[in-house]
Amino acid sequence: MSDLERALQAADDGLEDSLERLFALLKIPSISTDPAYRHGCREAADWLKRDLAALGFETSLRETPGHPVVLAKLQKPGATHVLFYGHYDVQPVDPLEKWETPPFEPKIVTVGGKKIIVGRGSSDDKGQVMTFVEACRAWKAATGALPVGVTLMIEGEEECGSTNLPAFLEEAKDDLAADTALVCDTTMWGPGKPAITSALRGLIYEEITIRAANRDLHSGMYGGAARNPLHVLSEIVAGLHDKTGRVTLPGFYDGVPETPEDVREQWRGLGLDAEAFLAPVGLSLPAGEQDRMIIEQVQSRPTCDVNGMWGGYTGPGAKTVIAAEAHAKVSFRLVGDQDPAAIRQAFRAYVRQGLPADCAVEFSGHKGSRAIQVPVDSPALARTREALADEWGVEPVTIGLGGSIPVVGDFKRTLGLDTLLVGFALDDDRIHSPNEKYDLESFRRGTRSWIRILAALAA
Ligand code: BES
Ligand code: MN
Ligand code: MN
Repeated sequence: MSDLERALQAADDGLEDSLERLFALLKIPSISTDPAYRHGCREAADWLKRDLAALGFETSLRETPGHPVVLAKLQKPGATHVLFYGHYDVQPVDPLEKWETPPFEPKIVTVGGKKIIVGRGSSDDKGQVMTFVEACRAWKAATGALPVGVTLMIEGEEECGSTNLPAFLEEAKDDLAADTALVCDTTMWGPGKPAITSALRGLIYEEITIRAANRDLHSGMYGGAARNPLHVLSEIVAGLHDKTGRVTLPGFYDGVPETPEDVREQWRGLGLDAEAFLAPVGLSLPAGEQDRMIIEQVQSRPTCDVNGMWGGYTGPGAKTVIAAEAHAKVSFRLVGDQDPAAIRQAFRAYVRQGLPADCAVEFSGHKGSRAIQVPVDSPALARTREALADEWGVEPVTIGLGGSIPVVGDFKRTLGLDTLLVGFALDDDRIHSPNEKYDLESFRRGTRSWIRILAALAA
């Protein structure tokens, strides 16, 4: 048996133990955006540090103003070195009542003859992180060593914008030196169909508060005279799109590349039909730009979405009130060369210009990230493609994805590294939603895929 075959065998033999470790990590409530879970974040970081130390990695927890970063390194003199990135933080679990099993009590459930791992973070990103960790473990178990040098950097603030990561990359530059970055936080093309992601959309996120009266008012006493900030906010939000689904901000489409006709032709050939895409989430008609195919709407076109909007009385029953404040969280997905700073500015100018007398607005923004395009002609990518084909028995497809992983741009800018984006999640994993899951097959074959990719990168 070759070393590779022995490592694959070790992974298969160790699957039960691998799952036990994954479950231990999934049980830790590491919700990064909510200060109440600060301790959970640290616990998840500690858990990973311990697990990687037991594997022979030189490990440390690196403090940031937010949650710590787990660093783990195993050198291999003379061999190529990879930097693997993942995140141990997870999204909030609300609405909790929609979960069929408690989010931090992971379970294996059989649905339609298929085994799935259910729990918050099972797919995004703890399950995916552990495919790589378990691949390293299998190599160690089978051969006593890894085929390449490996540094893992597992952060705890991805789900709230990786605010402290750019500074950390700058500061830890020397510790992070590598030949290639690997990220396991993306999806496959479909069940059994692996993919390498070559493009991700960028993101900017804005929160606005509109204030009118100096306190909540009785809507009978003041209604008719008092400015209602919820109406003002609604009008501003409604004006962000025109009737054809285009975003109205001046300059918003600057830097958006037009997809060449031959690529659009290929996309048409992929046969992603709107109904098939939307039906599983209970929808039927695409609501985006009317003149775009659904695949463009969710991958190659920029978007604007309101992620939350509130104000006034939202409790049970009725309360006749005119609120003093109205709030919204708004995000934009960016493509091509769209400039996050320019769009933030255009958005703020648009909101200010929509304010009537007696209203004031306050903004708070998160760090923005540009869209990402990784080179598709690198030797590392070609080898990864072969490794994936060997594991899955079909050629992987190269895809663009609509989500954002801010660190990929920073890897290029700060460390000069190109990133290979390979993930085993599926569109129906319900990431960020109740009942998040990861197919057992994604976990098992994801681990096997990394075993092969590490061997391929060593060659
Ligand atoms: N893993 C996702 C990104 C993703 C989703 C990639 C779907 C490919 C397909 C990541 O954890 C995520 O949720 N990112 C956030 C970034 C934000 C919070 C800065 C996103 O895309 O909303
Ligand atoms: Mn993720
Ligand atoms: Mn996520």
